[in-house]
Amino acid sequence: MSKREITVVRTTNGKARPDPNHLGFGKYFTDHMFVMDYDRENGWHSPRVIPYQPITLDPATMVFHYGQTVFEGLKAYHSQDGRTLLFRPEKNVERLNRSCSRLNIPEVEEEAFLSGLKTLIQVDRDWIPTTEGTSLYIRPFILPTETNLRVAPASSYKFVIILSPVGSYYPEGINPVGINVEKQYTRAVLGGTGTAKTAGNYCAGYKAQQKASESGAAQVLWLDGIEKKYIEEVGSMNIFFKIDGEVVTPQLNGSILEGITRMSIIELLQEWGIPVTERKISFDEFVKAYQEERVEEVFGTGTAAVISPVGEFRYQDTKYLINNRQTGDLSKKLYETITGIQTGKIYDEFGWTV
Ligand code: COI
Repeated sequence: MSKREITVVRTTNGKARPDPNHLGFGKYFTDHMFVMDYDRENGWHSPRVIPYQPITLDPATMVFHYGQTVFEGLKAYHSQDGRTLLFRPEKNVERLNRSCSRLNIPEVEEEAFLSGLKTLIQVDRDWIPTTEGTSLYIRPFILPTETNLRVAPASSYKFVIILSPVGSYYPEGINPVGINVEKQYTRAVLGGTGTAKTAGNYCAGYKAQQKASESGAAQVLWLDGIEKKYIEEVGSMNIFFKIDGEVVTPQLNGSILEGITRMSIIELLQEWGIPVTERKISFDEFVKAYQEERVEEVFGTGTAAVISPVGEFRYQDTKYLINNRQTGDLSKKLYETITGIQTGKIYDEFGWTV
């Protein structure tokens, strides 16, 4: 057998399906996983679908020490006409490889990623939930498997894909949430790893998230790490403002994650003829527009939540209430259109779904 042919070993011990009305996010996992290995001699090899199981590693395995990991997130849906749909998966492969390049991890060929993913989803196809608002969240990730404590890229890795039937990421769903403007901690700086989907970027945000939660806010508004002035992201999402009929989102500056939902929303707005600009936007600019009553809507975008409207910003003792804490019309329309295309309910004129 060629070292690139995918082998499939099916479980003999399938799990019970979780209640589709109480899935939460990332709590349940399907019966199988996809794995392939990398070493310098063979490159990526031995792609296989196997029963979902623990990965057993030596305590000195590099993954436990220096965090040389990358991950992706995308979703699969059942369409009403019986197809299984993925949303722009080639964009996830491209971004995974940009993350790999930043973390000195060997890149993965698009064909190996997509054929592994499609085989896995085929095997666990009946795990895709069909209840409104649910999907099968796909989590590809790479970890170093060499045992060694030297601070240097590993010589061996595992690429793994696991699948999780999910409901909405935030318990609030598409209801507007409160956001704490963070001036003390920074998510990422220019030249750092902010554009890569790597574990450290996410745990580096926990402290600020804890502060936000303690003050009763749901998420953190991240400002740039140098001047603490320009808006970068919200929670683990990109952010959009609708001010005076124009939609503004921070331009990709080297520390902002290149969201696939972000990119799709920009393309949709352009198609609809709604002015959309990628540029720097400072919190002071937001405050000025707010005081002049020009801010119409603010929302976060990401794979997990799709659209998450901002109901209010909190900065020091001031609260900035947005759209009366109501979900705006544009947020609603974007949510319905993106999820409609993803689930096959709306005709995909862009050719985004696979
Ligand atoms: C996303 O929504 O795209 C995210 O990155 C969130 C994920 C880390 C759970």
